[in-house]
Amino acid sequence: MDYKLLDGKAVSAQMKKEMAEEVACVKAEGGKVPHLAAILVGHDGGSETYVANKVRTCEEIGFKSTLIRFESDVTEEELLREVDKLNNDPDVDGFIVQLPLPKHISEQKVIEAIDYRKDVDGFHPINVGRMSIGLPCFISATPAGILELLKRYHIETRGKHCVVLGRSNIVGKPMATLMMQKAYPGDCTVTVCHSRSQNLKEMCLQADIIIVALGVPEFLKGDMVKEGAVVVDVGTTRVPDATRKSGFRLCGDVKFDEVAPKCAYISPVPGGVGPMTIISLMRNTLLAGKKAIYE
Ligand code: GUN
Repeated sequence: MDYKLLDGKAVSAQMKKEMAEEVACVKAEGGKVPHLAAILVGHDGGSETYVANKVRTCEEIGFKSTLIRFESDVTEEELLREVDKLNNDPDVDGFIVQLPLPKHISEQKVIEAIDYRKDVDGFHPINVGRMSIGLPCFISATPAGILELLKRYHIETRGKHCVVLGRSNIVGKPMATLMMQKAYPGDCTVTVCHSRSQNLKEMCLQADIIIVALGVPEFLKGDMVKEGAVVVDVGTTRVPDATRKSGFRLCGDVKFDEVAPKCAYISPVPGGVGPMTIISLMRNTLLAGKKAIYE
């Protein structure tokens, strides 16, 4: 099959342009520019990169951004105080606490401390609950980015069998919920497979759409995919690579060379879901700034 790429890099660049134009208009009219704050705890390489990208993208679009750093020995109490401060700062439209957090801090407690109206990550139980019953809410960035990618490529989803590999709170679960929603993209028959599934390969072979979010490099092989399938790769594992300046390269969850020839559409790594995730956080920030969802 002659596959087409789901080019997240190109789509996100287009969305960035659209948002930058909108912000420029707001600015020209003397309105308030959206303001995103990010809390980063410690110095995890992945988290450092993600947060730096988020701050840079804010600048490129014309948003205001604030980065708040703590060392990894910060107490839960101190972190919760900062969350409270941001909740009550009228200039901050939305904020995120980059995950993972050090073990001595309860991620759930921190997430629940965030005012759901500023929860542009869409991790607060109120946003998760509202999403699951189809009410306006902040949808977490990776699933939202994947929906936007499917939409911009006019991928048919109605009545299709979508297999989601992975059941994380950040990707797998919300992705499955959204793909079964009565909407476009959506209206799928959804199967969720995970590390304990016994018939994962059989399920994948029946799938029209496969969304892989396991964090296992090159997990999805050519013999697990039906001819003409749409495959979305959420994997971003860093694997050592001495030929790179950084010392690593990003590896997806899909064995691309085997799988791509069987696909109608496939998202690459890098340049697929990754840039869509960042741009979706920006979209949520824009919505927060406009009070388009709450208030
Ligand atoms: N860690 C991995 N993905 C994410 C994300 O989307 N948001 C936050 N806050 N942390 C993450």
